[in-house]
Order: sequence, then structure tokens, then C-alpha cells
Amino acid sequence: MSTIIVTGGAGFIGSHTCLLLLERGYEIFVIDSFCNSSAKSLEKVLMILLRFNNDLKDKLHLIKGDLKNISDIEKIFKNCLKQFKKVEGVIHFAGLKSVFDSVMDPLSYWENNVIGTINLLKVMEKYDCRTIVFSSSATVYKAKSDKLLTEGDFCEPVNPYGFTKLTIERILSDLNKNNDQWRIASLRYFNPVGAHESGLIGEDPTGKPNNIYPQITRVAIGKLPEIKIFGSDWPTHDGTGIRDYIHVIDLAEGHLCALEYLSNQKPQMLTINLGTGKGTSVLEFIKIFENTNKVKVPFSFHERRQGDNAFVVADNSLAKSILDWKPKRNIEDICRDGWKWQLQNPNGYSE
Ligand code: NAD
Ligand code: UFG
Repeated sequence: MSTIIVTGGAGFIGSHTCLLLLERGYEIFVIDSFCNSSAKSLEKVLMILLRFNNDLKDKLHLIKGDLKNISDIEKIFKNCLKQFKKVEGVIHFAGLKSVFDSVMDPLSYWENNVIGTINLLKVMEKYDCRTIVFSSSATVYKAKSDKLLTEGDFCEPVNPYGFTKLTIERILSDLNKNNDQWRIASLRYFNPVGAHESGLIGEDPTGKPNNIYPQITRVAIGKLPEIKIFGSDWPTHDGTGIRDYIHVIDLAEGHLCALEYLSNQKPQMLTINLGTGKGTSVLEFIKIFENTNKVKVPFSFHERRQGDNAFVVADNSLAKSILDWKPKRNIEDICRDGWKWQLQNPNGYSE
């Protein structure tokens, strides 16, 4: 039984990945400050497993802690050592992720994302744990009109959030160069959406969501009046922005593939896109959601949003060839599963 530490494991992508890790037989220690999540997500993860008579509560350890406090991180490693559990690796989701907030409050973003990661890496070195899967983002790239983005493409973030991700990638690369024992996967996510098919776990953004998908489900259920589409004059086939929407379970599977690949190969650093390679425009997304779920999603057109791009879609051939991973779910699955989560949990994880 391998032991893994998951930072930010109570969040949207973290909770779905924890489910898969437990299903795959890992014992996991989650550290989360709950600054953008609730412990309920992991209670629900255990409920999903119980439905299949899989009682794994002893394999999931949830510790409230903040990566900004190095002692919180050290406590977990010490605890594992006391129980004679060698930490095989860390999946590092913990981070702040709002582009808008990062512009308004850059210091918090640099402190939380970069200092938090440096603290984590210091403790990992101290406890001789040198395997990490890191949540990076497609936002590090300089977007290129209508071409798929490949890992070798030029990076030039346009906001502090993106710079924190690129900086962490750089720190990881320096570590890898300095010590040839590190096994590192930096996974550049495109647009993670959807929910687990049970409808028990999903995305629960605090406050008003900025991203398109949680807004679509909220408009469909009547919590928001309409979608404001940012721009109808982009150089795309219908004038609206095109993105690569990836089902959160496909994304979670990518983490397991990366972890298993790193464990079985020589130490190295990988930088890999996790996307579907298929672009969907905002208008197409809304229409597919309406047709799949037989609901209405009113919208209106507005000015372009600052910092947006016309087309952000992954070339995912590296993930396919190196990790032997490919997305299995399509945009209809995304629409169906996310709608189930919204219907069953109109207020997210709050009662
Ligand atoms: P999320 O906010 O749902 O999850 C992040 C989790 O980290 C939350 O549970 C939060 O409470 C926790 N956290 C944040 N700072 C912490 C700290 N200092 N100490 C301990 N816990 C802390 O976000 P998500 O969508 O699940 O994203 C996970 C990761 O993936 C983030 O690093 C994010 O930047 C990255 N990412 C997300 C997207 C996306 O669109 N969702 C796209 C690209 C990259
Ligand atoms: N959009 C609207 N109206 C809205 C919100 C979004 O029309 O109210 C449009 C955007 O203009 C864009 C598309 O919907 O064309 C997707 O926008 P999102 O805000 O959902 O996602 P982004 O592609 O802007 O960014 C997301 C995450 C970033 C991450 C990036 C990776 O928010 O953190 O994907 O590609 F880095």
C-alpha cells in the first residue's frame, strides 16, 4: 500500500483525484486549509466508495493545515514516519486560482502559491520524498490564434496567477537540475469542468463564479438570470471564444497516470498538457448543455473580457504517448454530470 500526500485535496480537482487514488488502493493524507473548499467533499468521496461496499475511511486522513506554515506540512510527514509509512509522493493541488483576485491582490497569490510550494518542497527534501505531481495551467502559455498549444510553446502569462504557476515550474526545474533524484510532473490543465457521475461531488466555487461552466449550471437552475458572453467578434467560426473543456475525472485519471509513470521510471521532470485536444465555443457549449439536459440557458452578448484569448486548445499528444493517458469523456458527459451535481446540490456543499 503506497502512501501519498495530497495538498488541496478537498478542492474541486483534488476531491475527484482523492476518490480515484482511494479506489486504486493508495492511502492518502490530505492537507487543506479549506480557504476555498469544505471537508464535506471528502466525506462525500467516502460515501461514493461505501456505495460499492468499499469502506476506506481508515485510508483517508484529513488534516487542516496551511502550506504557508511550514510546521503544518512537517506535522504530516512526521506523523507518517511515526506510523512507519514512507510517503511515496505528493500531488500538489493547493493554490489560489482566481485570475481576477490575483490582479487585485498579487501579494496573497505570490505568498500562497509560491511560498506555500517552497515550504512544501523544503519539507519533502528533509524527509527524502522527491516525487511531486504539480497542478500547473494552460494560462502559462502565450496563446496563438488557432493553433493547438504544445509544451514547447512560448510561455508568457498575462496575470499574477499565471506567473505564480510559471515560477513554480521554474523552481521545480531548478530542483531537478540541482539534484538528480527528483521525479516531477508539471501538469498544465486546460479547462477542467463537469463532476463525478454520482452527482455527489463537484465544483463549488465560493461567491459568484467567474468561469463559464459553473455559471451555465447556475443559470439553468435559475440562480443566475443569464450568461453574459464576453465577445461575439472573436476570430472563430461563431465569434465566441474557444476552449478545451476537460472532464474532471479524465483530469484526475491523468494524475494517477503521471504518478505511476514517475514511480516506475528514472528521476526526471515532465511538463505535460492535460486537455482533450478539442475546442468548443461558448455558444456551442451552451447549446450542447441545453440539448443534453433539456433545459434553457439564456444568454446575451457583451464586450470582450480583458486578457481573454480567442482559442486555447491543447495538443495532448505528449500525455497520450508518455503517460498512456487519453480523455474518455466527451462534452455531453461533462454537461450531463455537472448538471446532475447542480441538481442534487443546489447549494453546493452547504446545507
Ligand atoms: P480549488 O480551489 O477547488 O482547490 C484548491 C484547494 O487548495 C482548496 O481546497 C483550498 O482550500 C486549498 N488551498 C489553497 N491554498 C492553500 C494553502 N496555502 N494551504 C492549504 N490548502 C490550500 O481549485 P481546483 O480547481 O481544484 O484547482 C486545483 C489546482 O489546480 C490549483 O492549484 C489551481 O490553480 C490549478 N488549476 C485549476 C484550474 C481550474 O480551472 N480549476 C485550471 C488550471 C490549474
Ligand atoms: N466566458 C463568457 N462569460 C463568462 C465567463 C466566461 O463568455 O461569464 C467565456 C470566456 O470569454 C472564454 C470561455 O468562456 O471564452 C471560458 O472562460 P473561463 O473563465 O471559464 O475560463 P478561461 O479559459 O478564461 O480560464 C480557465 C481558468 C484559468 C486557467 C485556464 C486554463 O479560469 O485559471 O482556464 O486554460 F488557467
